[in-house]
Amino acid sequence: MNLLIVNFKQYEVSTGSNSIGMIKALSSGLSGTKLQILYAVSSTDLLACREKFGDLIMAQHFDPVPSGPHTGKVSYNTLSNMGIKYSLLNHSERRISYDLILASIDAARSRQLEVVLCAASREEVKKFAELDISYIAYEPPELIGGNISVSTSKPDIVREAASVCSSNGKRLLVGAGVKTEEDARAAVLLGASGILVSSGVVLARSPGTALSSLAKALS
Ligand code: G3P
Repeated sequence: MNLLIVNFKQYEVSTGSNSIGMIKALSSGLSGTKLQILYAVSSTDLLACREKFGDLIMAQHFDPVPSGPHTGKVSYNTLSNMGIKYSLLNHSERRISYDLILASIDAARSRQLEVVLCAASREEVKKFAELDISYIAYEPPELIGGNISVSTSKPDIVREAASVCSSNGKRLLVGAGVKTEEDARAAVLLGASGILVSSGVVLARSPGTALSSLAKALS
C-alpha cells in the first residue's frame, strides 16, 4: 500500500486550534481510498491530534534525548509514551548532523518509533539507504513550496533513488512541489512508494478536495 504524508509544517491554517479542523477537512474525502495516510502535525499539536485521530498522526521531528532535563527538545520517549509511531527526521527545514541522525535512529529503534528520514540529494539517498530505517523521503530543497514537482523536475533521480532504496529493502517517498494528480501518479510510476505534500494541500482553497485527488492517484 502506498503512503501519503501531509506535512502541516507551521502554517497558521494547520496549527494550534486549526489543526483538528484541518484533519477533519482532509479526512472527509478519503473514504474508499486504499492507501496509508499520515498527518505530520506540529509538536505542539501532537497530543490533541493523537487523542482524536490515533495512528493517523505522526511527528515532524524528534531529538535523541530521553525523558529528563532537556528544555525545548522533543524527546523520542515522550513521543512514544504518547502513542506516536512515526516521525519525520532531517527535513530540509529542520536539518541535523549525520551523527545526530545515527543517534536519533538508534533512539527511535529502542521505542519502535518508525523514522521517515529526509534526504535532500541523490548522494544522501544513497548514503541513507544503508541505515537501519524503513523509509527515505527524497525532497530537493529548491522545489519545496513551489509549483514544479520533484517527479516532473527530477525523474532520473527519483527512478535511481527508488531502485537504490528497493535494493536496500527501503521504501522511497518523494516530496516537494507536488500539487496535482499527475505529479503524484508520476512519482509512483517512477518507483516511489508514496509522497509527502504540504502547501499543495494545506494551503489549497479546498484542502479536502486537493488531498482526495492526490489520494486517488496513489490508491
Ligand atoms: O515535507 C513535505 C514538504 O517539504 C513539501 O512541501 O509545500 O512543496 O508540498 P511542499
